[in-house]
Amino acid sequence: MSILIAYYSRTNVTKTVGDEIAKSLNADVEEIISTVKYDGKIGYARAGKDGMREKIIELKDLTFDPSNYDVVYLGAPVWAGKAANPVISYIKQNEGKFKNVKFFVTAAKNGFEKAFEEMEKYVGKAPQKTIALTTKEVKKGEYKEKLISFLE
Ligand SMILES: Cc1cc2nc3c(=O)[nH]c(=O)nc-3n(C[C@H](O)[C@H](O)[C@H](O)COP(=O)(O)O)c2cc1C
Repeated sequence: MSILIAYYSRTNVTKTVGDEIAKSLNADVEEIISTVKYDGKIGYARAGKDGMREKIIELKDLTFDPSNYDVVYLGAPVWAGKAANPVISYIKQNEGKFKNVKFFVTAAKNGFEKAFEEMEKYVGKAPQKTIALTTKEVKKGEYKEKLISFLE
């Protein structure tokens, strides 16, 4: 089975999970890179605003075509109660190309369900599985057991 892991990560939390999944499944990895700057203090404010508005932005060139994969794992941090808009932009850019999806979302504490709903809306199909992980869980490495059932 061919598997692609595609995620956006501003501060490496979602990336940690995505890279772990990729290692476990021997999957290809697409790190989604925004052309809009979301780093630093000003970037944080912009991220909140753009996340809330589900703003579609331009992404750096992608390496992999999701239509070549049986399952695509989509990873997003929560921004302002929603899935970070670079991930939404990625889904939109690849409309109709996802056969099966699974979602992994990280957040400080809330917004997981809204993020899943939004991702499902843009993909146009329900995920096979989802996993919600707090920033703390990821940073402390306390998510490995949860991850096992997500990967099955
Ligand atoms: C602009 C912005 C808005 C955020 N909004 C939320 C939020 O609504 N709820 C929450 O629990 N965490 C929120 N967070 C925290 C991130 O979702 C969390 O730290 C996440 O694990 C970061 O993942 P990353 O390092 O992959 O970017 C927000 C972070 C940013 C930058």
